[in-house]
Amino acid sequence: MEANEIVAAMQSIAGAASVASAANDMAPHFIDWRKRHTGVSACVVFPRSTEDVSNVLAFCNEHRIKVFPQGGNTSTCGGSVPDESGSSIVLNLAKINRIVEVNAQDNSMTVQAGCILADIQAAADQVDRLFPLSLGAEGSCQIGGNLATNAGGTNVVRFGNTRDLVLGIEAVLPDGRIWNGLRTLRKNNSGYDLKHLFIGAEGTLGIITAATLKLFPKPRARATAILGFAHVQDAVDEGIKLQMQFPGELVGLELISKSEFDISLRHAAQTRNPFEATPEWIVLVELAASSATSEAWTDRLTEYLRFAFEDGILRDAVVATSEQQRADLWKIRHSITESNVREGMGITHDIAVPTYCIPAFIEQAGKALQQHFPDALPVVVGHMGDGNLHYIAMFSHTYWAALPDRRKTQLELSHLLYDISAAMGGTFSAEHGIGSLHVPEMPIYKDPVEIALMHSVKALLDPRDTMNPGRVLPQS
Ligand code: FAD
Ligand code: LAC
Ligand code: ZN
Repeated sequence: MEANEIVAAMQSIAGAASVASAANDMAPHFIDWRKRHTGVSACVVFPRSTEDVSNVLAFCNEHRIKVFPQGGNTSTCGGSVPDESGSSIVLNLAKINRIVEVNAQDNSMTVQAGCILADIQAAADQVDRLFPLSLGAEGSCQIGGNLATNAGGTNVVRFGNTRDLVLGIEAVLPDGRIWNGLRTLRKNNSGYDLKHLFIGAEGTLGIITAATLKLFPKPRARATAILGFAHVQDAVDEGIKLQMQFPGELVGLELISKSEFDISLRHAAQTRNPFEATPEWIVLVELAASSATSEAWTDRLTEYLRFAFEDGILRDAVVATSEQQRADLWKIRHSITESNVREGMGITHDIAVPTYCIPAFIEQAGKALQQHFPDALPVVVGHMGDGNLHYIAMFSHTYWAALPDRRKTQLELSHLLYDISAAMGGTFSAEHGIGSLHVPEMPIYKDPVEIALMHSVKALLDPRDTMNPGRVLPQS
């Protein structure tokens, strides 16, 4: 079907006001926020209801038009922009964004897919509850995108990934059928738990249009500290001890290298170095509790850190004594991803290994980079409690731009690191997903039986391969 015919069909199905086809209006939807992935479609459709989504998908399926789902377009792996073919649509969920119900009594909340994560957190807060999913992109990513990628973030060590925060979903299948699986039940073993098929499928099996989420008691008290270590082994050992010491309260355990900390301080507005001399390795730790006060928990944490100090492992520590200080520490952490973009060309990786293997990974990765890519600066930030590292090889823009075959170089570099992770039983994609960027890694690092099963599931639900084709699995 020609692009103008696709536009006309979408206008008649979803309404002219719900279809963007002017170049200027479509442009922001054809490029990712880091400006590394581009594509083009006939139009961008903004459905207003689940029924709209159903009608659009049914039409596209019948006419074999590719559909590229899009949430807040904060993907780091090219999952949220269309391919270059042009004979497709982008289906953006931004206009399906109602908070349907907040039920404090039941600790549940039903939201439409286009709700911005920060708005969901705020709605929970208003009824004295916590929705714990938290990430740097929370002001612009949508819960539909979080569900589609099974996003992680900075609270996983205590509350799990997005998958662990979901009671039910509503999804539209590629042929337009609507599955209403919105439930608030904590127990329901009545057959296959199909919601988990759609969560983390990155829009390749259908569109998530709504979800019922778990809420938690709002913490009454928080204690936050930033710790400095000379060696990454010490940082990890201390992190593991903190997990043992505060099993119910530890909600954040983030690891940052000096190189990364410096980058964030350099580029993020209104940040200040809490250390007099920045240590080689930094751990940001946060406790949250529903009993006692922040002062009491801050005292407990300080007391614990005093012993760690006496052990000689901990070199420096700054404990936040006010809400402002706590926010300032987290600002440095949450500014990292955007600061990296300003700093240079970062080849980013999202690996996970067992937490105790982190020091070995960092040592081996550093040696591999030094040997094969001596111009790269190793930059590390990670969700240490989850064994998840964003290991970044940072190059200057000019160096990177002068390389003859950048994609080949990137693959060679990344595979060096993925091989190290794989040898430790790790993964090449811990929380960001596959998108289009990591499709080449799938046959190298995933079990062939697992890949064959994934193809079977895809063929069953989307035999015409219209839903986000070429993402997660190679295009059939
Ligand atoms: P998009 O980027 O628009 O889409 C992501 C994928 O989901 C695409 O494949 C898209 O097709 C699909 N999709 C979107 N909506 C739907 C839907 N309703 N139904 C079906 N498929 C859909 N990620 C983490 O896991 N942890 C982090 O700590 C983290 N920090 C980040 C910090 C920054 C500053 C940035 C920019 C990104 C970060 N990310 C992080 C990555 C990103 O924010 C997450 O992957 C997020 O979950 C994507 O949500 P989104 O709404 O932007 O989805
Ligand atoms: C973070 C993103 C990149 O942790 O996942 O900052
Ligand atoms: Zn992350």
